Amino acid sequence: MSSPQPNPTIQSLATRIKTGQITRIVVLTGAGISTSAGIPDFRSPTTGLYDKLAPLNLPYPEALFHISYFSHSPEPFYAIARARHPANLKPTLSHAFLALLAKKNILHFLFTQNVDNLEEKAGIPAEKVLAVHGSWKSQHCWTCKASYPDELMEKAINAGEVPYCLEAGCGGAIKPDVVFFGENLPSAFDEKIHLISEAECMLVLGTSLRVAPCSTIPRQIAAGVPRVLINMEKAGDLGSREDDVLLLGSCDEGGLSVCGCAWVEG
Ligand code: OAD
Repeated sequence: MSSPQPNPTIQSLATRIKTGQITRIVVLTGAGISTSAGIPDFRSPTTGLYDKLAPLNLPYPEALFHISYFSHSPEPFYAIARARHPANLKPTLSHAFLALLAKKNILHFLFTQNVDNLEEKAGIPAEKVLAVHGSWKSQHCWTCKASYPDELMEKAINAGEVPYCLEAGCGGAIKPDVVFFGENLPSAFDEKIHLISEAECMLVLGTSLRVAPCSTIPRQIAAGVPRVLINMEKAGDLGSREDDVLLLGSCDEGGLSVCGCAWVEG
């Protein structure tokens, strides 16, 4: 892992964790913590999903997940759905790291932008996590909101075909309960947002911080509270405060090195 500005603060943070001075860590995650599980992220050049959509002839890449586009053209979404669907995926080392924070009782709350449900598979307690952008766990008709059977959804995803509502006379397209651009976030987001101000440390992993409102979370951390970015590249305003620590590299390695400093070494 390469770090352009090796920062001793990671050691001091680890000491503060080890000695119980930091007991409330708020975490924000994005697609970068799941790439090693096999799901490409969105915006990395060449490997990210948005660089591979030319054959779909979208007006712009994010249209794939925009509700106003899906409402008249759900086909492109289902053309890529199989590649994004988390069935049979295993949590990564990064998820295991976050599960360890929960086990050590220092995970105050985790906001994830991911919809792959790997936090639950890793054993992070449901009450400690909010999937801000929803998940693939369930699905509904976009038009009449009727629910739709899991096994039929799975069949449609595997076939790359749009599933349609089974309610008599409806025929609307089925949409997984993933929050598309243009849709409201779960109401739990407003209920959990106050937890940010209780953080004694913030960890940001695997996100470009390009999508609001999650992109605003690190900026809501109080001045003087350390913020750690574990990501391939710089993101948002992380690095602009004295107490920021940047671990530029893979999330899995960054998580391991924090664990190493806090619980293995010395
Ligand atoms: P992005 O693709 O925008 O950003 C992923 C970030 O993770 C980038 O900064 C990568 O450099 C970094 N990254 C990738 N693999 C990594 C690895 N193994 N280790 C460390 N860093 C890695 O994904 P998000 O920020 O999650 O929303 O995107 C936010 C939202 O935009 C998504 O939830 C999705 C998308 O459009 C909707 O579809 C509504």
